[in-house]
Amino acid sequence: MSTIEDITDSLNILADLDLDLTQAIYAEFYVRCPEAEALMGYSDLHMRGRMLEQTFGLLMDPLLQGEEQYFRWEIGNHLSAYGVSKHMYADFLEAMRDCVKEALQGQWQPRHTSAWQLRIQSLLDELALVS
Ligand code: HEM
Repeated sequence: MSTIEDITDSLNILADLDLDLTQAIYAEFYVRCPEAEALMGYSDLHMRGRMLEQTFGLLMDPLLQGEEQYFRWEIGNHLSAYGVSKHMYADFLEAMRDCVKEALQGQWQPRHTSAWQLRIQSLLDELALVS
């Protein structure tokens, strides 16, 4: 399976479990990055859910990366309008990965670990290109 297929596979297993990880992921994100909690203090659960939903979509779709594509536009928006710092992205993406892994328990496979690592790195490489 490709990286994208493995990521998608892990998220399909998650969908079958019918768990809502929103609270767990943001709690883990804020442990890793307390500054983010201060920044997102006024956002409601729906906004956090939408942000998470779009990030899951981004993880599964490499076409959203590249010049003029969604991810670059979203980064620009976050850095200029929301006061987000680049270093917060790794904490957010790794919090997502750790919560998905924990939710999948025995269904999480070594290929999921590799795929998430590669995918997160690809997004962070793209982030580094944005000034
Ligand atoms: C790939 C990563 C990310 C994606 C795709 C993403 C996506 C989004 C989207 C779609 C929204 C608007 C939601 C809505 O109102 O409908 C949003 C808002 C926001 N995001 Fe992100 N986000 C990402 C990472 C981050 C990170 C790392 C931070 C760091 C704290 C952050 C902070 C915020 C803030 C502060 C808002 C505005 C909250 C508000 O309006 O109250 N985001 N994000």
